[in-house]
Amino acid sequence: MPAVLVSGSGDVPDYEGRTTIYVIVCVTIAAFGGLMFGYDIGISGGVTSMDDFLKKFFPAVYERKQHVHENNYCKYDNQFLQLFTSSLYLAALVASFAAARVCSKAGRKPTMQIASVFFLAGVLLTAGGLNIEMIIIGRILLGFGVGFANQAVPLFLSELAPAKMRGALNISFQLFITIGIFVANMVNYFTSKIHPNGWRISLAVAGIPALMLCVGSLLICETPTSLIERYKVEKGRKVLRKIRGVENVDDEFDSIVNACEIARQVKDPFRKLMKPASRPPLVIAILLQVFQQFTGINAIMFYAPVLFQTVGFGSDTALLSAVITGLVNVLSTVVSVYAVDKAGRRILLLEACVQMFISQTIIGVVLLKDLKTTGDNLGKGEATFVVILVCLFVMGFAWSWGPLGWLIPSETFPLETRTAGFAFAVSSNMLFTFVIAQAFLSMLCHMQAGIFFFFAAWIIIMGLFTWFLLPETKGVPVDSMVDKVWKQHWFWSSFMGEDDYKADVKVV
Ligand code: BGC
Repeated sequence: MPAVLVSGSGDVPDYEGRTTIYVIVCVTIAAFGGLMFGYDIGISGGVTSMDDFLKKFFPAVYERKQHVHENNYCKYDNQFLQLFTSSLYLAALVASFAAARVCSKAGRKPTMQIASVFFLAGVLLTAGGLNIEMIIIGRILLGFGVGFANQAVPLFLSELAPAKMRGALNISFQLFITIGIFVANMVNYFTSKIHPNGWRISLAVAGIPALMLCVGSLLICETPTSLIERYKVEKGRKVLRKIRGVENVDDEFDSIVNACEIARQVKDPFRKLMKPASRPPLVIAILLQVFQQFTGINAIMFYAPVLFQTVGFGSDTALLSAVITGLVNVLSTVVSVYAVDKAGRRILLLEACVQMFISQTIIGVVLLKDLKTTGDNLGKGEATFVVILVCLFVMGFAWSWGPLGWLIPSETFPLETRTAGFAFAVSSNMLFTFVIAQAFLSMLCHMQAGIFFFFAAWIIIMGLFTWFLLPETKGVPVDSMVDKVWKQHWFWSSFMGEDDYKADVKVV
């Protein structure tokens, strides 16, 4: 399944054309896919901390929460409650493989349309939920929507963007995710005051980005790459003219045709991906996603309101604190858009490791010292200090591991394995997001403050990995990675022996 998914680093060809209004409209509509994903991440934690919701679907958790002498760390530990959050990601994991096929056989546009329909069905079942079964099935449908959208939207954005804007656009997908999380936090803050059905409003609002994507997708075009890839060559040229706003698009058109030709020589990209020469970008794509999740970010994104209640805020202040961390997340992502091609990837990742390690460790120490298993919560001052540390942690993540976890896998694979390789990144993300979503509340209950040292230990591992094994890719043309990066690297060069990337690609 060849596709051109290129990010903006390196020698970007200067093709004719401008950024047309039509491209801006298409990109904005597709970005609603990122909002859908982000909104989901942000909404569950708030909803699962609302008493009305708990009373209706998780009465045992509600009961436990009422008992003041109950273990502080275990208020919310309930496998079913975690399943409410995590089922979505398991469904998205399964769906992403089907989505990869639909995306290459039918195109990016229908894949996004299918995503929005799944999503709308999921919204109906969750917001209108009468019993736990409806809620879980609804979450699974939402997951199918996320799986389809996350496969198609980044591809769509990269393929439609003028070459010069690809890097910034790639990170804007992450920016839309963070905006989705932030909006969800705000919605939760207001709906938590509406009884007894505020939680239904929170879940129903997810329908807005899905509806925008569904209706908007009737206006957008298929990408030229996807059309040409599926042998609709002349239509591809026509669309390219339309989106670039000029008649002469020959250079860019030829380069897409060439890229598709070369990529078509590889009959089975997944098999090629298993060869030793594919190992460096594959291992890095998967590990970046694993590490991204083991920073503990989603413990914060999903469960911030629950966590803030655990340290002693009332439910209102806890939700407000989640709004603050959500805003920090959005603003810090903007920093990355500017810094990534100037400062480079490695420095951002390494700096963030130090920042995240320090904040996780101090949170662990404060809780260990002052949040006893039973009895009083932290004092107001100390709880505020914890919120500040969480913000510092989120800040570090948002300008590094968040966007770069997606950017680096999109720029290090050669074209012939790019889509297949990226599918591994998406599914690893979903798998480990599922693991954290399912396990965090139980881990908090059993490991207590130790959970923060657990994440801090992972941060040391990922820092060492970055230091020794992650080469800098800033400024390297995407199609020169093999020669300029892997073959020069002290460790990865040993995989670049006889079965070089180009070895079984016959250029005609
Ligand atoms: C991650 C999500 C996370 C989000 C936070 C994304 O890059 O994949 O799991 O919730 O960043 O902003």
